[in-house]
Amino acid sequence: MTLVLVVDDVPAMAEQYAYDLKRVGGYETLIAGGGAQALDTLAAESVDCVILDLEMPGVDGFEVLRTMKERGIATPVIVYTGTGNYDRCVQAIKLGAYNFIDKSESMERVVLEVENALEKVRLVSEVEALRRDLGTGSPLIGSSAAMLELRETLTRVAPIPSPVLVVGESGSGKELVARELHHLSGDRAARAFVAINSAALPENLVESELFGHERGAFTGASRTHKGAFEIASGGTLFLDEIAELPTPAQAKLLRVLEEDQVTRLGGERAIKVDARVVAATNRDLEAEVEAGRFRRDLYYRLNVHVLRVPPLRERLSDVPELVDHFLAATCARFGVRSKTLDAAALEALMACEWRQNNVRELRNIIERMIIASERETLTLDQVPAELRGAARSPGSDSTPRTFQELKAEAERRIIIAALERNEWHITNTAKELGLADHASLLKIMRRHSLRRD
Ligand SMILES: Nc1ncnc2c1ncn2[C@@H]1O[C@H](COP(=O)(O)OP(=O)(O)OP(=O)(O)O)[C@@H](O)[C@H]1O
Ligand SMILES: [Mg+2]
Repeated sequence: MTLVLVVDDVPAMAEQYAYDLKRVGGYETLIAGGGAQALDTLAAESVDCVILDLEMPGVDGFEVLRTMKERGIATPVIVYTGTGNYDRCVQAIKLGAYNFIDKSESMERVVLEVENALEKVRLVSEVEALRRDLGTGSPLIGSSAAMLELRETLTRVAPIPSPVLVVGESGSGKELVARELHHLSGDRAARAFVAINSAALPENLVESELFGHERGAFTGASRTHKGAFEIASGGTLFLDEIAELPTPAQAKLLRVLEEDQVTRLGGERAIKVDARVVAATNRDLEAEVEAGRFRRDLYYRLNVHVLRVPPLRERLSDVPELVDHFLAATCARFGVRSKTLDAAALEALMACEWRQNNVRELRNIIERMIIASERETLTLDQVPAELRGAARSPGSDSTPRTFQELKAEAERRIIIAALERNEWHITNTAKELGLADHASLLKIMRRHSLRRD
């Protein structure tokens, strides 16, 4: 629902305008009788557009525009004037007003201006979203069986407004999955993606960050503050490290999810919100529930749709693609010519378990390797020693490898990818690969020292 605020010191004028805006444009309207009241309303309500009189006693329209700019309030403003003094209107536009109209203008024309202003806001946030996308490149690299399955579930769940729980080890890509859910969520994608990490916030601030507070709600609350739920309304609210949410906040979160409305701290009024909640954790939430640290009812509310991000060791066949991606992205960021990895180095990375930090660890290693060498081709020499230990060392480091070695490596990759596709089911994998029986596959696996977890 679009909410328009009409600001005019002449009550009859404001009321007539509000009435006509509702009738012709179908908008919800609010009225402010002066500049100070307008600023209060802007701080307290989610206003979509303002129609502002310039000539008012006390805080006039110019002052309102100036203060909005100072406070970073980006709501579009259309100024109107009865004096026909267009110099003043131009001055208002310089202060950030979207456009101006004459008070005698037809209401159809006014509604058209409001629609244009709203459209501009939508475009601006869409451009911002696109820019963010460009910055991060194509997200979610990987075409292993596990990744394909994740992507399929993700695409199916994305347009549904119910909460999603993303689980997975540290650095496995949970936040990336949350952002992808946002991008694929249809109309929401053009609205805000707001991330809140309750583990990173002091306990006494969590609730005010999530739900907002009114002026004077607690010591230091000198002005009204919108919470993440309100800011993310129409878009996505990402609740990272949900297991760390303090118990009182858990209770409030549950209520908001059930009622689709928030009440700010110290506030009386319930405000409608429509934020899609994506929660993430690297903990076993069920165990947290059993241990009494996480509310069971909230857990049930969140775990209707669960996306499990597989650890990197369950999708080692993604390593080459991820390596290419991080090489290109990191070299571009450092402004150096793109580098490649030789086969031995890549094989070493594919033999790692990545138990510390999954994809993030791989990304960091690639960055270190790029810094460690001037050369275009990175070799096993640049692979950090602690990782090389984990890998089998295939003879001397950077000498070109024989046909036999290259063939063995290709075989290894084919086997790993097939095993992952079949969830390490030996007979099924052997069948898919057209091998005589499961014993033949086991023999090849032994040759490559491949074992199930
Ligand atoms: N599939 C992927 N494709 C490309 N980059 C990825 C992928 N998965 C993870 N990354 C990158 O790895 C890093 C860690 O990912 P992210 O922050 O999403 O992990 P996380 O699971 O939220 O970690 P934590 O548990 O530490 O919060 C990021 O730089 C992200 O861009
Ligand atoms: Mg994260």
